[in-house]
Parts: sequence; C-alpha cells; structure tokens
Amino acid sequence: HTVEAPRFSNREDVAAIMKPRTSFAHKGTYGHAMLVAGNKGKMGAAILCAKAALKTGAGLVTLCTHEDYFSAVHSALPEAMCLSQHEVVDTATYKTIGIGPGIGTGAESGSLVSKTLEQFTAPMVIDADALNIVSANKTWLEKMPAQTIVTPHPKEFERLFGKSDNDFDRLQKTITLSKQYPLIIVLKGHYTLVAANGNAWFNTTGNAGMAKGGSGDVLTGMLTALLAQGYEPLQAAIAGVYLHGLAADIAAQTMAQESMLASDIIDHISDALLSLH
Ligand code: APR
Ligand code: MG
Repeated sequence: HTVEAPRFSNREDVAAIMKPRTSFAHKGTYGHAMLVAGNKGKMGAAILCAKAALKTGAGLVTLCTHEDYFSAVHSALPEAMCLSQHEVVDTATYKTIGIGPGIGTGAESGSLVSKTLEQFTAPMVIDADALNIVSANKTWLEKMPAQTIVTPHPKEFERLFGKSDNDFDRLQKTITLSKQYPLIIVLKGHYTLVAANGNAWFNTTGNAGMAKGGSGDVLTGMLTALLAQGYEPLQAAIAGVYLHGLAADIAAQTMAQESMLASDIIDHISDALLSLH
C-alpha cells in the first residue's frame, strides 16, 4: 500500500499559521483550556502541561485533578485554576481539553477518560496514560471527536495500533491510519510525524536534550493551548510540534543537552514565538 510522501514542516509554514494577538483581546478571546492531568506522584506532569499551555497563549487554564494536590498546583503555578475530578463539568465553559499526562491507568482515571470522551464533542488532545487507557478499551477510539490530536510515543502507538516491524513501517502505518480514523496522529520521536487524512509532515526542530521525562507533557499543554485559541487542529499540531522543538533548540544554544529540563523548554517557548516574527 502506498501513501503520500511526507513533507517537512519548516519555519515559513509555521510563521504563516501563527496569528498575532489582537489589541482589543481579552482572556475570553483566547479560550479556556481544561487539562485533565496529574495523580499521586505525577503532579509534575500536570504542572508542566498547564504551564506550557499558559506560555503558549491560552486565555485561561483549568487543571482537573485530585483535590489533594490543588495546593501543589497553586503554589507552582498561581495562574492556573483547579477543578476536582468529581465536580460536574459545564462543557460549554471550555473551548477544548487536553487529557492524559500523569493520570495513571487506574479505574478512576479510566472513568475520567470515558466521561470526557462522552461529554466533549470539540477536537481535543489525547496523550500518555489516556492513550494507554484507550488501548485497553479500543472501541473508545471511535468515541474520539473528529480532528482530535493524539500524541503517542512509539510505545504508546504500539499499544494503540499494534506492533510494527521497523521505524519505516510504523511511519507508513501512521499515515494509513490517519485515513481510516478522523484523527490527527502525532507520532513522536526525533523527526516527529504529524499525519492527517493520508497527508504527513516531518517536523524539523528538536534535539536530544528533550529525551527526558516531562517533554511530552509540555507538548500536550502547547497543543491544547493552540486549540483553545481557535487554531485549526491540523495547523495546531504542525505549529505546536515545531514550536516545542524550536523552544528546545533555542534552550540548547545556552545549555548542555544533558542539563536541559522540560521546564527549560517551557522557559523558551516565548523565544520560539518571538523568533517567528
Ligand atoms: N530529538 C527530538 N525530539 C525528542 C527527542 C530527540 N532525541 N527525544 C524526545 N523528543 C521529544 C519527542 O518528540 C516528544 O515530543 O520529546 C517528547 C517526549 O515525549 P514522551 O515520549 O511522551 O515523553 P514524556 O511524556 O516526557 O515522558 C514521561 O509520560 O507519556 C508518558 O510513557 C511516557 O513515561 C513517559 C512519561
Ligand atoms: Mg508522554
């Protein structure tokens, strides 16, 4: 089976996607993002994700997590709000949702993923343990809203869609799957592939400083923020993946790749955005 040859996404593509903030904007203009993230021992994933979303321009960010961890979130990130997993969610409040980083795969997280897929109809971002939960309930793949962005690393991809013989096989399979499902598939790696409707783009930014826990959580926050701001999901995926790698490349100009933390990627999101102007 043949598929379209992937293209490379570059600076010009992303500069053309990004829209300047308008002078008369208010926080409502840039959307309220909900992030379902974090659990016992994994609140770092939630905080990184929420901070990356705020740094990428979301108007408001609410983190849906376990009440026991609210104070950790508020002290690390006063700009974020918290919502308990047991509260009734008014879906109209939120422009989009990002779900998965650090939630774990226990029964409570399972019902949270199921509830989210049932309640929200707008394109969302699904990552990490939310993908692992869907892997155990494959029919839930069909419940994902059209244009939803899924961001598996190769292991998560394998759990969701089965084994591939080699890297090339996995790339072909990703593009083929993007024709079968109405999803945007972001297969993460050194040259992250973004595939939608049989078309695909290789990302051209990023470095091995990102090979450290937390980098993926930052990407989920960035992608969710772009959806919250009203970017088309495919454009959000291409631009978000590019900016994430670019922020890390800018960070690597002044620090060793060994020393780079996910927080350093977040600290350079602003430089990445500025460099497109
Ligand atoms: N070159 C370029 N980009 C890289 C490189 C590299 N050498 N290494 C990693 N990256 C990028 C990937 O493209 C991706 O965007 O960093 C990110 C890593 O994301 P994940 O693999 O999801 O890792 P992360 O989420 O940070 O790991 C924490 O969460 O998803 C779970 O199972 C995962 O246990 C892991 C945990
Ligand atoms: Mg991850």
